[in-house]
Amino acid sequence: MMKELSRGDRSDAMPSIRHSFPMGLLPSGASIRSGSLYVAGVEIKRVAEEIGTPFFIYDEDHIRTTIRDAKGAFSGDIAFASKAFLCKAMAQLALEEGILLDVASMGEMYVAHAGGFPGDRMILHGNNKSDQELAFALEIGVGRIVIDSFDEIDRLESLAKADEPVSVWLRVTPGVEAHTHEYVMTGQEDTKFGFSYSAGAAEEAIELLLSSKKIRLLGLHSHIGSQIFMLDSFKAQFDVMAELIKRYGFLELNLGGGLGVAYIDGEEAPAIADWVSMAESYAKNSGLPDNLRLVLEPGRAIIARSAITVYRVGTIKRLKGIRTYVSIDGGMSDNPRPVLYESGYEAILPERMNDVSDTIYTISGKHCESGDIVVSSALLPSDLAVGELLATPVTGAYGYSMASNYNKVGRPPVIFAKDGRYRVVVRRETLGDLLRLEE
Ligand code: LLP
Repeated sequence: MMKELSRGDRSDAMPSIRHSFPMGLLPSGASIRSGSLYVAGVEIKRVAEEIGTPFFIYDEDHIRTTIRDAKGAFSGDIAFASKAFLCKAMAQLALEEGILLDVASMGEMYVAHAGGFPGDRMILHGNNKSDQELAFALEIGVGRIVIDSFDEIDRLESLAKADEPVSVWLRVTPGVEAHTHEYVMTGQEDTKFGFSYSAGAAEEAIELLLSSKKIRLLGLHSHIGSQIFMLDSFKAQFDVMAELIKRYGFLELNLGGGLGVAYIDGEEAPAIADWVSMAESYAKNSGLPDNLRLVLEPGRAIIARSAITVYRVGTIKRLKGIRTYVSIDGGMSDNPRPVLYESGYEAILPERMNDVSDTIYTISGKHCESGDIVVSSALLPSDLAVGELLATPVTGAYGYSMASNYNKVGRPPVIFAKDGRYRVVVRRETLGDLLRLEE
């Protein structure tokens, strides 16, 4: 299960009064001037006035710096897991920063490609890739396809051409139980992903692929889960993968993503540089060849903290002796994580960052479900009022990418901020958009 603090309940260890919000949960370019929150020099209040709420605002330099931190501590390749957040501007940023992109569907490949991201820098994942997805991958020359099943091998054999062999990795299930929420655990034996190491399926698939004329097996991949704080989970994964790499003499090893981030006050996650260095030192100390190409695929650790979601408070309902519900103009449609995984978030008032917070509120969305809670216990000022801006930090990963149109609520726009300016990179969905697909 997730670390206890991620579950969103305020533990006794957490403060019941707060004089200043922990800056470590905000984008690194966040600052406070006269109590007002700025991201990358852009005042949140101004953006809200200009484009309305809700919106996601990303600190572009935070993303770039995090990528550089990872690259600086790692001699292998970093691939950004685009499922965490993708739009054309993000694909362009990834290209400018010289990293690879993990894509896991036709749509992710298509958007990345439309953003000018070259196919040969993409890694295609998926436990059920369709003929159409595989054919598109071959068409745009995807760098590595990560084979996930025997059916996929058959499919690829019939689609690939003998004179243009396709380069692949094999996804191995190492049999490791990562310490995280069971919905985002992927390395254990009972999983739809990959080929089991212990049951011998990985070995069987490797032998099969090594005899193929159309498929070139260049290495192995594994990914044990997401929002992982305990680095020892990765060691167990590494040991299994190193054994296979040595046995077959492969020169490429992708260890996936999964590094956790802090969402709420008091949580602490390892730095991305420590995580990538750890992988590198495992490789060095285990007798793997010096020319082994290591790849890591972080999503959350690159992007989560770079964004906040900004809402406006519309209704406050004080239920005597029970709780106070503060309803905002978004909810589970722009952040389904609390509902899906009981994930915890904090809340802030971007126009009143210096005010003392001493009152617990429940921040609820506008959807027609009681479970539509965005922050189960938010510490905010006692005089919180209707009409104020309220933001949730650390929403850059798996927020916009998992957003929906539930209750026909349009998805918020996405803004990139840099050097005191901002640009809308994905516009707000309109009512017209909601009818766009109807015949
Ligand atoms: N590589 C593969 C093959 C993956 O499946 C994933 C995530 C990653 C890399 C990146 O993992 P990260 O570094 O972001 O942990 N929706 C969930 C997370 C699902 C992760 C799925 N796979 C959430 O909101 O917590």
